[in-house]
Amino acid sequence: MRLKDKVALITGAANGIGLAAVIRFAEEGAKLVIADYDVTAGVEQEQILSQQGYDVKFIQVDVANKESVDSLVKQTLEHYAKIDILINNAGITKDAMLTKMTQEDFTRVLEINLNGVFNCTQAVVPHLIEQGHGKIINTSSVSGVYGNVGQTNYAATKAAVIGMTKTWAKEFGRKGINVNAVAPGFTKTAMVEKMPEKVIDQMKSIISMQRLGEPSDIANAYLFLASDESNYVQGHVLHVDGGIMM
Ligand code: CAA
Ligand code: NAI
Repeated sequence: MRLKDKVALITGAANGIGLAAVIRFAEEGAKLVIADYDVTAGVEQEQILSQQGYDVKFIQVDVANKESVDSLVKQTLEHYAKIDILINNAGITKDAMLTKMTQEDFTRVLEINLNGVFNCTQAVVPHLIEQGHGKIINTSSVSGVYGNVGQTNYAATKAAVIGMTKTWAKEFGRKGINVNAVAPGFTKTAMVEKMPEKVIDQMKSIISMQRLGEPSDIANAYLFLASDESNYVQGHVLHVDGGIMM
């Protein structure tokens, strides 16, 4: 088992890629906190996975809210007594062409995708420093690496995540903490289901593998970066996009 007795806190874990990671990590022996805003899905997944014999706890959080994040970390430490892995996976889109993007939609995406990553990492990192080891994985996107029509707000946050990943890798490497990012391509979740069909087809046509990603494709990348197999990988952005641009 690649994560035996490790405690992983995954945000945005009640659905999509985060949920796939919870399942994959549980199979590898990890204990998990499903940290999500969505109570219905979070409670449901906690029940399903607990019945399967996995050690999983749902805690509601709004990553954009510092008090909520501080409470999440406190509850996690009370329940599991440690945190080994943090995955900053929670994220949203509010797509519009720049000319039509409202100030509210611009700001809301920043609050969750950018401030949320800052809030969670700042709350967890003192514990990782104290224990002398830990893994932080941030979720970027092809949109943050290459830009994407209709995603001024989202692309800005996902590029910022790369900047924060490299900064924290430099700040915390000497404390035994690995900080890396995954940049997924278009992956089959609710986020992509919202896209116009013709844009999805256009995207598929430029992907080398000629298909969208599965949530498990991204979960496997998280697993590598969370396991001891990646102990000398630092400040890296792992592109898992089927070869969308090379
Ligand atoms: N490439 C090039 N041009 C594009 C384009 C694209 N991908 N998408 C739209 N356009 C062009 C249109 O052809 C159109 O051109 P003209 O003005 O010359 O006719 C113009 O942009 C406006 O397009 P729409 O008529 O569709 O404008 P709209 O205001 O109704 O909608 C939009 C714009 C909201 C961006 C909509 O097209 C859309 O939702 N696109 C998908 C955006 C997208 O890719 N989101 C990714 C979601 S998944 C995700 O975010 C995960 C991840 O990390 C990758
Ligand atoms: P999803 O929409 O299926 O899941 C996102 C989860 O985040 C949901 O469970 C939602 O409740 C939760 N969430 C939203 N706001 C929150 C908040 N304020 N606090 C706590 N939780 C919150 O999306 P998906 O596709 O699984 O996305 C996961 C991550 O992967 C996101 O960061 C996304 O930007 C990124 N990504 C997704 C891609 C895709 O094509 N699906 C491609 C590249 C990156």
